[in-house]
Amino acid sequence: MQIITDPAEMQAISENLRLQHQLIGVVMTMGALHEGHLSLVRHAQKKAGIVIMTIFVNPTQFGPAEDFERYPRPFEQDAALARAAGVDYLFAPPPERMYPEGYHTSIDPGPMAGSFEGASRPGHFMGVATVVVKLLNITRAHLAVFGEKDAQQLAVIRRVTGDLNIGTMIEGAPIAREADGLATSSRNIYLSSDDRQRATVLYRAIQYAGQETDRGRHDLKAIAHEAASLVHSVIGSTPDYLCFVDDETFVPAVEAVPGKAYRLVMAVRIGSTRLIDNWRFVCGEHRDA
Ligand code: PAF
Repeated sequence: MQIITDPAEMQAISENLRLQHQLIGVVMTMGALHEGHLSLVRHAQKKAGIVIMTIFVNPTQFGPAEDFERYPRPFEQDAALARAAGVDYLFAPPPERMYPEGYHTSIDPGPMAGSFEGASRPGHFMGVATVVVKLLNITRAHLAVFGEKDAQQLAVIRRVTGDLNIGTMIEGAPIAREADGLATSSRNIYLSSDDRQRATVLYRAIQYAGQETDRGRHDLKAIAHEAASLVHSVIGSTPDYLCFVDDETFVPAVEAVPGKAYRLVMAVRIGSTRLIDNWRFVCGEHRDA
């Protein structure tokens, strides 16, 4: 595995790989790698001959109250994990190479960036959209793999790359779950054992919604309301949000239309930990929850 820190050098290597007809896949991360990131690498390896991993703690997607400085940066450990996973190139630029003095441009992903996760983190998706486009231009990847766990991020990236005709194929990798259904997350370790038990209600809410849509119900707003009551009955508070959205636009959905894709999205605080989860379904198709 080669470690590259200079954007121009990475771009030159990628151009050369393209000239050799190599198919390039990229997995973008902010480091502090865990099994979720490694599963994205395995996903990319199935589709691409060369896999580039990027590690860049992107300052522009952190709000003023969020702790950019204290974000973990275990670089040696990350590099060892990436190497063991068979990553071909690790691109890890310092911030001043990505945003040199005089840098001004940013990408506004539009209304989708202001709801749900974007509502509590103003500017976050603008920072994500900008760095993702920069990293796609630098790595010249044919394919980029992002986790479905961050479904709104994935939708924003699909929107931006589509709107800007970037041409990279954007792939969502399925959510990895524990045996009891809890979505894997680096935040799960902050849950006390009682809260860890309570946290299974997120997946139970998904299963409830799946069961109801399987019964042929189309009243998504009502189903989401019932699922939110289930969550409330276990954690004793209202979810930050729990609703169905159009899978492409993230506009809240009230009634399902056959053939259309929707996503149940939720953010729930359990103790001092905020967990997110989601489930995609196509109205009229058999569920996979
Ligand atoms: O999901 C992340 O880790 C980040 O938002 C990403 C996509 C690497 C952009 O900084």
